[in-house]
Amino acid sequence: MENVLKIAIQKSGRLNEESIALLKKCGVKFNNGKDQLRVKSHTFSAELYFLRNSDIPNYVMDGIADVAILGENTVIEHGGGLDLKQKLGFSKCRLSLAVPKDTPYSGIEFFNGKKIATSYVTTLSQHLAKHNIKSEIHKISGSVEIAPNIGLAEGICDLVSSGSTLFKNGLKECEIILESEAALFANPNISAEKQEILDKLLFRISAILEANHNKYVLLNAPNDKLDEIVKALPGMKSPTILPLAIEGWSSVHTAINENDFWDSIDKLKSLGAEGILVVPIEKMIL
Ligand code: PRP
Repeated sequence: MENVLKIAIQKSGRLNEESIALLKKCGVKFNNGKDQLRVKSHTFSAELYFLRNSDIPNYVMDGIADVAILGENTVIEHGGGLDLKQKLGFSKCRLSLAVPKDTPYSGIEFFNGKKIATSYVTTLSQHLAKHNIKSEIHKISGSVEIAPNIGLAEGICDLVSSGSTLFKNGLKECEIILESEAALFANPNISAEKQEILDKLLFRISAILEANHNKYVLLNAPNDKLDEIVKALPGMKSPTILPLAIEGWSSVHTAINENDFWDSIDKLKSLGAEGILVVPIEKMIL
């Protein structure tokens, strides 16, 4: 039987679109009709399962799926057990406690004896126990932000990304319990053959992530400043330098990491660089 990597992703929800986009950029292409929950890639040894988010950790632990793209928050709430292979840098959010915006809040002791509505019972219970807080946890599986407004609880514990849902429901974030982002998780007992396919996928993912953190920069430099300009470039081993048609000028090409980007551009300008073009990079293999 042909070995394929079984990849579970969210059927719907905040990770769905970006998970599909990332896989497609990695050359894991597939045509899934609406509501088709299992589909084989026609370009990579993989099969996709579109599943309900909270079910995915069990599917991976049971070996039904080999790997999954999940929020770290989901795996922590499940109780761990899956191998974190690669953080993916999207769907960044935090799991936070929140209370009505007019509630005076001076610390986590506020929640002693209070009712908290959440879908994250395990993570919240552990956090409260760590701080020796005894609250009544009321489990609900969605629309958590409504709870204080209908008298169901004094506070909530839910995911916050932009903060817009809290704001629209008259709540304020008062305590961050954990920070989370999308990541690729794997069953810890994956076979050697599947590991080989997974390594191929991880290599492609790292090329995409590296590219996301870098920009390709092309600039024109006066030859008498070329040495200083090259020294000021934090990019790859050595930039490409080509003579321009105009006497005394060269074209310099390199990649610059986003963390160094604006400082580098300021330095290059002050050294006389002109016509600076900044281009997104699709893939970067170092
Ligand atoms: C999450 C979470 C919040 C909202 C926060 O819901 O439960 O309701 O996002 O995002 P914001 O801070 O950007 O407003 P999601 O849309 O993932 O769906 P869910 O209700 O299924 O959790």
